[in-house]
Amino acid sequence: MSTSVHPAPAVEETQEELEAIAQFVPYHTSQALNYATQLRAQGFSAESVRRILAQAKNRTKASEKFGDRAHHMLLSEAGYEQATRQAVAMVHAQRFVQAKVHSVADFGCGIGADALCFAQAGLAVTAVDIDEQTASYAQYNLADFPTAQVLCADVQQLELKALPHIFGRPIDALWLDPARRTVQQGKTQSRTFDAEDFSPPLSFIRELAQTGIAMGVKMGPAIPHDQIPEECEAQWISHHGSVVEVVLWFNALAQPHVKRSALVLDSDPFEPSVVTEVSSPYHESHSQQQASEPLYEVKEYIYEPDGALIRAHLLSEIIRTTDAELIDEHIAYLTSSHPLQIRGVKGYRVEQILPINDKHLKRWVRENSITTLTVKKRGVDISPEQLRIKLLGAQKNTKKSGKGHHGTLILTRIGEGKTSRRLALAVSPL
Ligand SMILES: C[S@@+](CC[C@H](N)C(=O)[O-])C[C@H]1O[C@@H](n2cnc3c(N)ncnc32)[C@H](O)[C@@H]1O
Repeated sequence: MSTSVHPAPAVEETQEELEAIAQFVPYHTSQALNYATQLRAQGFSAESVRRILAQAKNRTKASEKFGDRAHHMLLSEAGYEQATRQAVAMVHAQRFVQAKVHSVADFGCGIGADALCFAQAGLAVTAVDIDEQTASYAQYNLADFPTAQVLCADVQQLELKALPHIFGRPIDALWLDPARRTVQQGKTQSRTFDAEDFSPPLSFIRELAQTGIAMGVKMGPAIPHDQIPEECEAQWISHHGSVVEVVLWFNALAQPHVKRSALVLDSDPFEPSVVTEVSSPYHESHSQQQASEPLYEVKEYIYEPDGALIRAHLLSEIIRTTDAELIDEHIAYLTSSHPLQIRGVKGYRVEQILPINDKHLKRWVRENSITTLTVKKRGVDISPEQLRIKLLGAQKNTKKSGKGHHGTLILTRIGEGKTSRRLALAVSPL
């Protein structure tokens, strides 16, 4: 093992501090002074109180991502903010298992959210982080897994040729989730969007890929397509309706002949449940050529594709394999004259097409006894919340009596410049 690689240090928290954390979870900020007074009365120093309450607060927040597991973890604020949510980390682990990987090194493991799911899936894990405190937390979090080891090192300083031997065990594959923010004392300071400014940077990742090792790399979902290396499969993942990441899969972890893919997961926060998976062997330029001409009109049904399909530029795949057509080349809504069931795409029947005009929309609200309203939009610069308030008044969007109806409006635009039409579609979900 090189001298720059060393085992993660032990955590700073004492046994007494670790045992005290649970009584303040869930943590309520309004009670902070009370908590501190209780702990001081139990004999804890001011520094111990700070550490105990920081963990109670972080565990409370992190339970949204990790469920009950959070109650047994040690976390920094930046650590859980950057960490992969459990359902998505489990999906990463499944890809390694399916590729028959036995031993993975997690380069930049953070507090170990991905590493935990790798270990739980039966992989031997070598988790490495540059930051001593973060590595100490990862070590604490992975302590139940005898096949996991946590090390401290700057992965950019490792001798890549020595990779298979450097950690005292063979490594079949790598996982990287580069830091997209600067962190000081466990808190986020600033964020960066250029993949060359990530830590480690994209150029280092490409060097790693060139060694031929199987590798997955998590990136922000907004990475421009022209920054994505040719030699990987880029998989956009959405969870509970939000596009959370793109993973670049290299070498044996990439699906053969797939360049772009999208994975849509439903809302379960802790177990992955796949709504749909779409892939394409083509790059964007090919896919665009294959897409049919947009229609510039709305038919009887309209469809709202999941963001992962849009970011992966896979609408052309849907158009190619169904009867759906784009309403406009710049707007990610599809339309058809009969109802279609397309996985990863929400469908609506178009009940009425109205102009985007307060008078017409207020009349529609009145005539249909609308008391609660969902407003969706693509391609128009209108705040859905402001429009909802304008049409219904400032009351909360909850039904007070059983009398009124719920309405759904889709605001969009067809065409550009002088010939452009702005439409409000009154729709009902299929
Ligand atoms: C986005 S976080 C990883 C989160 C992790 N995947 C999880 O789900 O918990 C990135 C981590 O990479 C670490 N890191 C950044 N540059 C590194 C380097 N050159 N060597 C090792 N670790 C590095 C940071 O300290 C940070 O903890």
